Parts: sequence; structure tokens; C-alpha cells
Amino acid sequence: MSSQSKPRVLLTRAEIEAKVDELAAAIRRDYLGRHPILICVLKGAFVFAADLVRRLNFPLEVEFVQLSSYGEGRESSGKIKVEQSLRSPIKGRDVLVIEDIVDTGTTISFLLGYLRKRKPVSLKLCALTDKLSRRQVPVTIDYLGFTVPDKFLVGYGLDLDENFRYLPDICVLEDNVR
Ligand code: PRP
Repeated sequence: MSSQSKPRVLLTRAEIEAKVDELAAAIRRDYLGRHPILICVLKGAFVFAADLVRRLNFPLEVEFVQLSSYGEGRESSGKIKVEQSLRSPIKGRDVLVIEDIVDTGTTISFLLGYLRKRKPVSLKLCALTDKLSRRQVPVTIDYLGFTVPDKFLVGYGLDLDENFRYLPDICVLEDNVR
């Protein structure tokens, strides 16, 4: 697979928009008046987080973290490195992590452990997509958009080698060359 591969739409922008509306409604119900910190996991979650926060019409803060996994190719080795850490303390705060995709669960499980040590009063996860069939580490997703098949997904923030993040739909990459 390469950046020449052809994207086929899996989830349309309209389906994503309707789902983000639903997730935002649930988050509004649960977090209204709690002044939460939303933590966007870079880079993939930036589009989803931007759409989500604009539907949350109450006071909140936004933070960013960036993680990377050491390893060969696309398979995670399970060793995660914090590339960009939090800029503000989260002790005693309600924290909601925003992810684009949970795959093996390695990255988010590491991040939740890393954040838990900083003693938030609550810590929950909102993920737009879940590749459940690939799970190696158990993860509880408190607010989930879509369960997705084990295909290579791009668009709406998701990339292949930094390409395709700009696509407004979530697409499956299919090779042109047969
Ligand atoms: C993706 C995604 C998650 C992670 C999930 O990030 O945003 O953070 O992979 O995989 P896992 O459940 O198997 O650990 P990616 O490494 O593609 O980086 P990016 O968000 O910067 O594109």
C-alpha cells in the first residue's frame, strides 16, 4: 500500500457529523458545569477534537499530547514515547481523552496510565473509531463513535505516512495495482 492507493469511502462526512452530534450531546449531559480538560491525542484526533469541542457549549479547556511507538512499520512494538506532554496540571480535574482510533489499545492504555498517575478526579475516553478485532490490551471506551473493520483507514485526521488526513470522509485504502 502506498500514498498512490485509492481511498474508498467507508464513513461519509454526513455519517460522521451525525455521530459527532450524538457524542457531543452525551458529553454535554455528563460534563456540564464540571469545567473538564479535553486532551486531544495528536496527530490523528485533531479534526475530530475540533469538531467535537465546537459542539460543547460550556466552559472547558483543551490540551494536546503526542505519543509515538517505537517499532518497525505499522505494527506497534508496545513501547510508547511521549513526544509532547501536557502543558497544564490535571490533578483534581475531570479529564476526557479524545482519540481518533483505538487499534491494539497499546497507545491509549499507556496514555491513560500516564494520566492516572497525575491524579485527575475522573478520567474517561472518547474515541471516534474502534478497531475492536485488533485489540491486544483491554480498553474501556466511554464514548464511542463507530466500530470499524480491520482495514487501513485514512481521512478525517487519519493518515498513511502523513498523507490523506485532509479527506472529509473516513476511507479505506485500496491498492490500484492488482
Ligand atoms: C494512531 C491513533 C492511536 C494509535 C492507536 O496513532 O491515533 O493513537 O495509532 O493504535 P494502537 O491502539 O495500536 O496503539 P498513530 O500512531 O497513527 O499516530 P498519529 O495519530 O500521529 O497519526
